[in-house]
Amino acid sequence: MSRRVVITGLGLVTPLGVGVPVTWRNLIAGKSGIISTTSLPNYEKDGWDKIPSKVIGKVPHGSLTEGKWDPEDHFERGEARRLALFAQYGLAATKEALEDSKLINDTDTPKDRIGVAVGSGIGSFHDLYENAIGFNESGYRKVQPLFVPKLLTNMAAGNISIKYGFQGPLHSVSTACATGLHAIGDAYNFIKNDYADVMICGGTESSIHPLALSGFARARSVTTEFNDTPEKASRPFDANRNGFVLGEGSGIVVIESLEHALKRGVNPDNIYAEIKGYGLSGDAHHITAPLENGDGAYRSMKIAVERSGINVNDIDYINAHATSTVIGDRAENNAMVRLFGDNTNNVAVSSNKSSIGHLLGAAGAVESIFTIKAIKDSIVPPTLNLDQIGQHKEDSQSLFKFDYVPNVAKSKDINYAICNSFGFGGVNATVCFKKFS
Ligand SMILES: *[C@@H]1O[C@H](CO)[C@@H](O)[C@H](O)[C@H]1NC(C)=O
Ligand SMILES: *[C@@H]1O[C@H](CO)[C@@H](O)[C@H](O)[C@H]1NC(C)=O
Ligand SMILES: *[C@@H]1O[C@H](CO)[C@@H](O)[C@H](O)[C@H]1NC(C)=O
Ligand SMILES: *[C@@H]1O[C@H](CO)[C@@H](O)[C@H](O)[C@H]1NC(C)=O
Ligand SMILES: *[C@@H]1O[C@H](CO)[C@@H](O)[C@H](O)[C@H]1NC(C)=O
Repeated sequence: MSRRVVITGLGLVTPLGVGVPVTWRNLIAGKSGIISTTSLPNYEKDGWDKIPSKVIGKVPHGSLTEGKWDPEDHFERGEARRLALFAQYGLAATKEALEDSKLINDTDTPKDRIGVAVGSGIGSFHDLYENAIGFNESGYRKVQPLFVPKLLTNMAAGNISIKYGFQGPLHSVSTACATGLHAIGDAYNFIKNDYADVMICGGTESSIHPLALSGFARARSVTTEFNDTPEKASRPFDANRNGFVLGEGSGIVVIESLEHALKRGVNPDNIYAEIKGYGLSGDAHHITAPLENGDGAYRSMKIAVERSGINVNDIDYINAHATSTVIGDRAENNAMVRLFGDNTNNVAVSSNKSSIGHLLGAAGAVESIFTIKAIKDSIVPPTLNLDQIGQHKEDSQSLFKFDYVPNVAKSKDINYAICNSFGFGGVNATVCFKKFS
């Protein structure tokens, strides 16, 4: 028996706003969620001023009615204090996804058939930092009782399961920037293999902290050349790309077996898309740098396509991982060139990181949602800031021969799309989505 797996609910917290509708509206309007750290209240006191990269993708603060983030809109006062920010984002996105799928107050599905697979790349940087400083200054008595639970990367998943009483598989991957996509892929396998009928899956991250940005700047991963023009800083596939922009947020999707969705009365028109295949691989090369030929990415895309039972030529759209780093974008491009060979005419490639930055562990889930919306709405999202495609001055001969949809969205019927995520440690993941029919 092969169970089909479909997507029935979406939830987002991103630098473009809180909720799928507001994020989508701002995306389509071509808005950027990237801001300058110089606008932060404690710019000097917190040490942002000494960091060479000054751009971040921060979830905007304000009331939910304006599509912005205020913990009081989501939690009782005491509750918010007990939750790390990444868990708060995950719970907020989950609530939206459950409401969207009409499972929020469902009493028909047995609770042990609903599972949770929500990961985070880093967990709570803030709690780690504060407790380390507190311990250094005052020793044992300054360490908070909730320090360890707030720190753990699987706590968002734990909190979601407890809040809604979901007793199926409780899983949490942490594979750096591939986390969100691995979470969706693993959850797909749980349903496929009949461990659950419904999975709440995705990623969440809140690592906007001066220590984190310092670390990424020391590793030379983040951009430093667009400090005065934050909205131009993230430029996947552009010749002047210079590093990624650190972002935060959460993407959560509700997926379920088609049979279960139909049985509980989901209107087929409200099914966003179907998941057809999942590929994973390791580079086995270097902790942060990809192989120039993109071998790991090539294999993960190839596996996803093969497992979907389709040909490469069937792919209409690739939502690339492309973070706007010189070597990462090149490796991914080389991998796509190898996969598609001469058949590049029909496929569009773009990266929404141009408008939200890189959400690390949440990236794959948030970008899966963009891919799913692109399929549903027949729109290929643009890659912003793509003024001069390709060849960075450090590039040897990379062939930038796809349609990267520079700056303006375009209408396109998308039957199959793949979404890529790659992470430190050499991990690669690809999920293939299909228009539901
Ligand atoms: C679900 O139940 C809660 C608590 O009874 C209620 O406040 C909420 O409005 C319900 N939501 C929906 C969408 O029915
Ligand atoms: C706190 O930091 C200072 C300065 O780095 C160090 O000398 C000291 O040993 C630290 N104390 C503890 C308890 O870690
Ligand atoms: C969520 O986890 C925190 C610990 O990180 C705990 O204090 C809190 O009670 C949990 N809340 C829910 C709703 O599970
Ligand atoms: C596979 O993921 C790892 C981590 O980023 C990475 O080093 C490598 O970039 C990925 N492969 C490619 C070709 O992008
Ligand atoms: C991001 O993606 C959506 C479609 O998936 C698109 O409509 C939007 O314009 C894109 N935004 C940017 C700024 O790339």
